[in-house]
Amino acid sequence: DLPSIQKRGYLIVGLSADYAPLEFHTTIDGQDTIVGADVAMAKNLASSMGVKLQLKEMQFDALIGALKTHKVDMIISGMSETPDREKQVTFSKPYLEERQVVLIRKSDAKKYHTIADFSNAK
Ligand code: ARG
Repeated sequence: DLPSIQKRGYLIVGLSADYAPLEFHTTIDGQDTIVGADVAMAKNLASSMGVKLQLKEMQFDALIGALKTHKVDMIISGMSETPDREKQVTFSKPYLEERQVVLIRKSDAKKYHTIADFSNAK
């Protein structure tokens, strides 16, 4: 809980850093570093708690077990809600909903309506 994290001085966030743009490895100043939107969010959270952030990287499938056995304080790893996970852990409210689109020119809008309209086969 929060008091024990503050006493310890750092928040331990579990993640699997193989999921760009949310968490992934990159090289900064010659140093391998884990970055991404989830990492930025974890940093903000730690700073609002007044503690440092420790990222604990592991296989995605190991995350829930690590949370249940107190190896991490929370998971921030692009994880979605599923009924099986819901049985084991408590979810926050969703913080990201992906709704990306492909964009084309207005002048082409009448010509293309579905993927099939881009096919040679038709
Ligand atoms: N959103 C999907 C899930 O919850 C995939 C997440 C993968 N995340 C990762 N850090 N590899 O199952």
